[in-house]
Parts: sequence; structure tokens; C-alpha cells
Amino acid sequence: MVEPVKFPEVELYEGWGEPMRTECTIRGLELIEGEIPADLEGALYKVGADRQYPSGRTDDIFIDGEGMMHMFRFKDQQVDYVNRWVQTTRYEMQKDAKRSLFGRYRNRYTNDPSVDHSVSMGTGNTTAMFHAGHLYALKEDDLPYEIDPETLATIGKSDMDGQIGSVSFTAHPKVDPVTDELLGFSYQAKGDATKDIAFYVFGPDGKLVNEIWFEMPYPGMVHDFAITDEWVIFPFFPMMTDLDHVKEGGAYYEYHPDKPTHVALVPRYGKAEDIRWFKGPNATAGHMMNATREGSKVMLDLCYYDGNCFDFFPTPSGEITPEVPPFLTRLTFDLERNDDSYEIERLLNVPCEMPRTDDRYQGRPYKHGYCIVRGMDGSSGTGHINLETGELHVWKPGPGDTVQEAQFVPRSPDSAEGDGWLLVPVCRVSRVRSDLAVLDAQNVEAGPVALLKLPVRVRATFHGTWVPEEAFTTGRYNFKLQAV
Ligand SMILES: [Fe+2]
Repeated sequence: MVEPVKFPEVELYEGWGEPMRTECTIRGLELIEGEIPADLEGALYKVGADRQYPSGRTDDIFIDGEGMMHMFRFKDQQVDYVNRWVQTTRYEMQKDAKRSLFGRYRNRYTNDPSVDHSVSMGTGNTTAMFHAGHLYALKEDDLPYEIDPETLATIGKSDMDGQIGSVSFTAHPKVDPVTDELLGFSYQAKGDATKDIAFYVFGPDGKLVNEIWFEMPYPGMVHDFAITDEWVIFPFFPMMTDLDHVKEGGAYYEYHPDKPTHVALVPRYGKAEDIRWFKGPNATAGHMMNATREGSKVMLDLCYYDGNCFDFFPTPSGEITPEVPPFLTRLTFDLERNDDSYEIERLLNVPCEMPRTDDRYQGRPYKHGYCIVRGMDGSSGTGHINLETGELHVWKPGPGDTVQEAQFVPRSPDSAEGDGWLLVPVCRVSRVRSDLAVLDAQNVEAGPVALLKLPVRVRATFHGTWVPEEAFTTGRYNFKLQAV
């Protein structure tokens, strides 16, 4: 006899948040508006959290839950949709037990007694990555899970042929689609509450070309980082793990409102002894838009919170800090200056999150950014920011409806920066189903050039990636840059 499945009556699992728990294959999504661009061929992969079984707890958070990968496959001006669970160790163990075995977010001390502490709690729920011909689902506290790019069947956990020696790999890797290098890292790289960072650079063939290990100032969270041609930027915001508190069943991270921010500039192809450290005011951020270098200056553009960006992680005294808005902000680090401070400049006065770019311009001078802009009524829209002029253009799908993170796709391998499409999953909240919108990235406010209807809900996706058609055979992106 196993327990009946019953989710708790909490806001997280109500309305749009109701666990979807459904795997689908839909051949030929219905086109309800416009026309699918003829040259748009390839696949959009997105990953998010769903819930396989109720945990029996009322303190679940939206970033937890088993990974669900979604594929929108563009071919011959039709789009197929497939979604599948990422079959992690956690997923398989729960499937066998027919119930939840894992407790509070990342807290292995709250798991079912049948689960050994050495079992990874990784869910593969945060993003999709394509590199050297392989597709992966990623979550920052585990190694990548390789996924079949056609069927989304889980192939298995991967340490990249033994090349990743850390216990985990970031869910915000940077795959440079021009050089085809993969840059990624692990934090708490030797296990829970360790201070180690392992930074990796892989060549286009998937072979490791550089690896740097160093320590952060405290056992913190490093959700994202940014790259330039010479330097890689690691911000350490004061979101920390106290292992004793975790062992008592507490939150895995605590926000320290009295602690400063530390930033490490790591030489992309150098060594740990060449790392440069900077220090700034208390703040947090989850997501970086881009970084660039100009002479001795390195600029980091990020969605910056003057407070706690993860307000479901309390302070050490248990306090839930007030929600603060994220503003697109530029931090400038001057490597020739003799102090360790940096400059902070707000770039946009409208709160925005889930920043993206034309990814061919990651780490390079750029002028186009994309993000989610939230309305006062709970709705949201897709924003296009021109970094040169400061102009913001927004497309909103409709009252009460919301958008998920946009994915830029170049119009052609050599089109100019920002000339292409934005693929945007849309939550038709009141209609309890999803759409996929294809926007002209240079004219988002005109609305979709194509709108595809799903008869199901894409409950939540965090991040994703685009794989162009030819990359399925070559394993490479092969995009070209035009001179800026
Ligand atoms: Fe993220």
C-alpha cells in the first residue's frame, strides 16, 4: 500500500502553478496567427521545474521540483512539441518508491531516511546546453544529464568523459556560438558548504583546455557568471550556506544584509594566481546579461537587486526581507586602478529579469538585450533594450498573461547583431494553456510574426538554448559575426 498522491493546498501549486506531471508529443502545433519564417529551422530546448510527487512539506519553493525538458522543433515551417522528465537519480528513486523522497530545497538532511546522504538531490531543472554535438539538462548542484536531442530521453549523468572533477556544474554555462568554446564552473565544488570554485574551458571538440580552482570568500551561491575575451567575472553576493543550520533542517542559503559583495575577475586562459579581486556594497543578483572589455576596463551588465533577489531565502535571524525590484545595472571594474572598488551605474529604470542577448555577442561589444518586464497587474511582457540609446520596447501578450524567458535566434548565421527572432513561451493564464510566440527581435512591439497554440500548459521554464538545424549533423553552431 502506498500513500495516495495529494498536493498541499498552497499558493505554489494553485492555478498556473498546479503541477503538470504530463509528458506530451504534439506533431504540428496549430498556427493561430501569422506565418513561421521559412529559414527558421532547428530546435528550442527549455527546461523548468515540475513536481513528480508532493513532498509533504509546505515550504517548497518554485525553483525546486523535478526537471522537465521541453522541445519546440522547427522544421519545414511546422513546429512539433515534445516534453519529457529529466530522469535523474532522484526522479528514478521516487518513481520506484511511488512517492517523494526528497525534502527541503538542497537540504539532504531533510530527505527520507531511506536516501543516503551521498545521493545527489539534482533535478536537471534549470537550463539546456548544447555543446560538441551533445545536449544536456543542467542544475547547479549536480553534474549535467545528457539528453537525446530528438526524443528527449535521458541518456545519463555526464562528467564530460571524466574531465569534470567537481561535484557539480553550473546551470549558466556560456557556449560561445562563434568559437564554439564552452565555459562553465562549479561552486561549492567539493560538496555542500565548501568554498571551492572550479572554472572550466572546453574546446569545440569537448576537450578541456583550461581549468582553474580557487576559493570564494565564504561558502556562497554563484548562480551565474559572465565572460569576456580575456576575463571571466564571478560575483559573490552574500547568499551563504551555514552547514550547521542546514543539518538542523534550515534553509540551504541565507541572505546576509550586512555583508559586502566580492567579485573575482579570473583570466579566461590564465591561472588562479592572476585572479583580481574587487569589493562593493551589499546587493544580490541572479542573472547576468553580458560582459565586455575595453582596454583595462571590464563591464558587467546584470539584473541588480539592492537587497535580496531570492526572497524565499531568509536572513540568519530568520527574517524574510522585503521584495526589491531588479534593475539592469552596469558594474565597471578598472584593472589599472589601485583600489578594489567598482563603479555602479543603472542602465534602465524599468524592473526587468531573465536577461538575454544575441548570444553570438556574449563577451563582445553589444547593443541589444532582451528581458522579461513585469506589469503592475501580474502580467508580463518581452522587452528589447537598445543599450546604445537606452530605448525599451515591450510586447505584452495580453491582460493577465505572462511570458517566459525569450530565446534569440539569428535570421541567418551571418546576420547583424539583433537581426533575428525571439522565441517566447506565453502563459495564457486564464485559458490554462500555452502559446509559443515568434517575435521579430528588431520590432517586438509589433507582436508575433507567428503564434503557435499548445493545447497544454508549459508550466514553468527557466532557461534554454537554440540549436540550429545544421548543428544536429555538425555538432557545431558555426555562427559568424559582422563587424560592429
Ligand atoms: Fe537562472
